[in-house]
Amino acid sequence: MSDLRSINTYIDETFVENDEVLAEVIASIEAEGMPSISVSASSGKLLTLLIAISGARNVLEIGALGGYSGICLARGFGEDGSLTSLELEARYAELAHSNLAKAGFGNQVSYMTGPALDSLAELERSDKRFDFFFIDADKENYPNYLEGCLKIAEPGAVILSDNVLARGTVADNTMEPTKNTEVMKAYNQSVAGHPRLESILIPLGDGVTLARVKG
Ligand SMILES: C[S@@+](CC[C@H](N)C(=O)[O-])C[C@H]1O[C@@H](n2cnc3c(N)ncnc32)[C@H](O)[C@@H]1O
Repeated sequence: MSDLRSINTYIDETFVENDEVLAEVIASIEAEGMPSISVSASSGKLLTLLIAISGARNVLEIGALGGYSGICLARGFGEDGSLTSLELEARYAELAHSNLAKAGFGNQVSYMTGPALDSLAELERSDKRFDFFFIDADKENYPNYLEGCLKIAEPGAVILSDNVLARGTVADNTMEPTKNTEVMKAYNQSVAGHPRLESILIPLGDGVTLARVKG
């Protein structure tokens, strides 16, 4: 049985083309001394495809970093949609905004800086609604983010969460657990059994759960 890493390398090599815009985003993140923790190239492509397939137009992202996933999300809706991105660090949100602008989406994205739980509460108070969510920030808060997203989700909305395999440790007891192993095991169980969600886990990159809010 091949391991997750070699399968993902094969998928990346076969399905993901060179992308100068995204390569520049990665370079800008490195140049700013920020962590290299953007989504994998194939997970980014999945984001673009899912937005295009679902027809989502009001997208919420939790965790912007340098704008890599933001560009992938925006590519899915093209000229006809908007992205709201929640990011703890103002400096990261600034770089993300500058990279979204270079990719042609500067006027379709807005950033809310500070703890995402506060921003989610603010969005709920202002009656904002979204049809697509991408959760990719501090892992311990994933259960809280999920409940926050459900409060502002349109019926049928899609909720994706990244890094749910914790490098494969959720499934392989022989591996050394990471600090996120138990967090992600519990999160995956709660998504799988959630009464308001239909869901599946896709082993792309570090794993994403794909969930649909029942109507
Ligand atoms: C894995 S990175 C996001 C990567 C990004 N989605 C991408 O693929 O291009 C996680 C981001 O979440 C942010 N973050 C961490 N804790 C947060 C919090 N409590 N509220 C909002 N953002 C947070 C970090 O600053 C970091 O930029």
